[in-house]
Parts: sequence; structure tokens; C-alpha cells
Amino acid sequence: MLALLLSCKAPLPQRLVEEFRGSYPVAAAPNGTVREFELVAAPAVLPLAGNPKLEVWAYDGQVPGPTLRVKLGETLRIRFVNHLPQPTTIHWHGVRVPNAMDGVPYATQPPVEPGQSFTYEFTPKDAGTYWYHPHVRGSEQQERGLYGLLIVDDPAPAPWSQDVAWVLDDWLLGQDGQIFPEFNTRHDLMHDGRWGNVVTVNGQVAPTLAARPGERIRLRLLDSANGRVFVPDWGSLAATIIALDGNYASRPVPAGGFEVAPGNRVDLDVRVPRQPGSYPIYDRFIAQRPNLLGTLVVAGEPVITPDFASPAAGRVLEWREALAAPVDREIHIDTRAGGPYGIQWAFDGQPYMNHADGHVMAPLATLIQGRFHHLRFVNDSYRLHPIHIHGMFFRLLARDGKPVDEPFFRDTVLLHRKESVDLGVVPEDVGLWMMHCHILEHAEVGMMALLRVNPGT
Ligand code: C2O
Ligand code: CU
Repeated sequence: MLALLLSCKAPLPQRLVEEFRGSYPVAAAPNGTVREFELVAAPAVLPLAGNPKLEVWAYDGQVPGPTLRVKLGETLRIRFVNHLPQPTTIHWHGVRVPNAMDGVPYATQPPVEPGQSFTYEFTPKDAGTYWYHPHVRGSEQQERGLYGLLIVDDPAPAPWSQDVAWVLDDWLLGQDGQIFPEFNTRHDLMHDGRWGNVVTVNGQVAPTLAARPGERIRLRLLDSANGRVFVPDWGSLAATIIALDGNYASRPVPAGGFEVAPGNRVDLDVRVPRQPGSYPIYDRFIAQRPNLLGTLVVAGEPVITPDFASPAAGRVLEWREALAAPVDREIHIDTRAGGPYGIQWAFDGQPYMNHADGHVMAPLATLIQGRFHHLRFVNDSYRLHPIHIHGMFFRLLARDGKPVDEPFFRDTVLLHRKESVDLGVVPEDVGLWMMHCHILEHAEVGMMALLRVNPGT
């Protein structure tokens, strides 16, 4: 009774922190097993995007790169070797890693020069779908094919009949069928980044996924495109969202109409129909120009549908009052003239720059570990901006001031034209974390910033 009385009197941000406790683990729990990987980034020629000989840049000669897969509690040790003609780094998107492993040039490590190597080591704190990609000149390096999945399995995964990943991308190919070699064009920078003319799933145009009637599939989607947003249309298929950006939802969410923006991962529970046949899945982000993503082909002897509750977040965080907490920081997004390309994108009018001497720009905001923060992003422009924050998960609280009830955390949220979003976050990992637009062309011309998380008291 006394505790209740006290907690009612506690100030709102403190109550929100109390409610947050246990939403996801604060610290990693390494079990002592170290899984060693080697990743080599180098040019390659591969059959991709409809071209039998597409000249790409690849991790270990594959696009997407090899899927790094571990169980929760295992430690990854990845020896990365750069055989590209440019410096690079690897960022583990969505994974709450120690700051020094985050792969942000100058802020957390020097870039890995051609011929050099760097060893990344960390123990993921969460089971889910993550991915890795360069954090140097992403608009070129990722577009050329550098990205892959990092999947952290639950200690005892649910008995899906298949666990499948679909990495969504698009490629801008020139007349010669090769990757159009001009990056960061004025058009890309003024619009929503570089949108390609060939849409692929795992590098292939409209692949098929074979299943028997009655199967139950965990389908992991990643949008690895530079700028394209996808809205998969599941047609008559029963598909529900069970996790977003690596975090389990506290309850399943209908998948219809859900926007998958660059950087987002969406994990789906798909119940394969009993009726044999072909079930096409279209992207309908642009209603008049749908793209066939792939086709589920159902054939063969029926199986008994596995019956289990789809995995869900153990703790339901409602944060109903969070929107009422005072805004700690309101950040405006807009474009302006200037910089090496003539156009810049910026948070609060400050385009991000790396200095050759290695010093980084002052943080845009300072947050405190273990405290609740209410952030508001205001898009003053008419373009799309998927905002990604490193090193922490946040809850989307509102769009244009209207409360949004999403039963999951995110690491990336799409802002539409002239839209504002309110986010709630309790950062747990100390350090200098990057936040940026995941339209890589926007990031390249300044739409990046650092957030400092200082230790709490
Ligand atoms: Cu995919 Cu800095 O992020
Ligand atoms: Cu942007």
C-alpha cells in the first residue's frame, strides 16, 4: 500500500522507468561459448538481379552476405578483412553491442583501410533478426551488395516447420545491366534516395518459396534497400507480425498494410493454406506500381499445422502516460543548400561531417542511462526519412501528436512528409551512439548525428 502510494507520487518520468524495467535485458548474459566467423569484403561477380554476371561488392563472395547465426548467450567473434578499394567498417544494426563494437567511423573506431582487418566481438542481449552492413559511404557500399543477416535464436526456438529469411532490396542497373555507377546524384539527394529498377528478394527476381499445405513458417523480412519502402500484400495468406526490429511484440499484429522501411526487420508467423496453389506476394507501397516480391507455392502432401503460441515479449509495456511526459528534445529535419554535393540534409540545421583528423562532431543531445526520455522528430520536408538510432530500442508514442499503440519496440521508424513522431526511450548502454536517416543518400549528405548516453547515478 505504501509502495503504491509512493509510486503514485513519483514524478511521471520515474514512473515510466519503473514500468519499463524488465522490458528487455539490460546486460548481456554470455554463456561462455564463442562463435568465430571470418568476413571478407571484396569485389565479386555473381548471378544477381536478373544478370548472370553482376559486378558487386560482397561479403564472403555472397549477396546477401552469409547469415551469421548464434544462440542467445553465445558470443560472436568476427574477424573482418577489407579487400575493397575503399575504407569501410561493419555496423551490427539493432544489436545492442558495447559502444566500441558499433562500427561507426571515428566515433567508435578508425575506418578499416583496404588490406586491413578488424575483429568485432560482442554477445547479443536479445534473440531476433538483426543485420550487418558498412558504415562508411553506405550509399555506395550497401548498394553494391554489402549486407547480411545476423540471427540470434532463442535458446529453444518454437517448432516452425520452416524458418526463412527474405532480404528485400532494389538495384539501379544501367543499360549495360550493371550497377549504375553514379552514386549520390542530385536527383537521389533531393528525393527519397536511390530507388532501383529491379526489385529482388535474396538477390533474385521474384523467387518462389515452396511449402506443403498446412505448414507454419517464420518469415523474416529485412529492407536492405538504400531508399525503397515496401508494403507487402499477403493476399489471402494468414500472416501476423510477431517481432519488429528484432524485438518480439507483446501480442501479434495483423501484417496487412505494414510499411517496411530501410533498416526495418519484420518477423512474421505465416500459416500456409490447406489449398494447394500459388500465392503471389506483391509490394504495394506505390499502389499504381506494384512489384512482385515472390510467390508461395503450396504443393504436396498436407502436414499437420504445428500448434504453439507464437513467441511474444514476456512483459507487456503499455506506457500509456508516456506521451504526457515533457519533451526532452525536439529535433527538426530539413534540407538546405551547401556541402560537396550542393544539397545537405540535417538534424536541427547541423549537417554531420567527419573530420579527417578523426575528431567527431559534438553530440546533438545527451541522454542519461536508465532514465526515460521523450524525443520528438519533426519532418519539415516533403521527403521520407526512416530514422534509426543505434544502441537502444525506442517505442513510437505518437504520429502528428496522435497516440500510436504499437506493442513492440523499434530501432527504426519511418517519418512521412511533414510528419512528426514522438518516441519514448530508456537508454541502457553508455557511449556515443549514432542516429541517422536510413535513406543512405540522405545520411551521406549530413543526415546523421551523435547522441551521447552518460552513466546514470
Ligand atoms: Cu543500419 Cu547506422 O545503420
Ligand atoms: Cu532521410
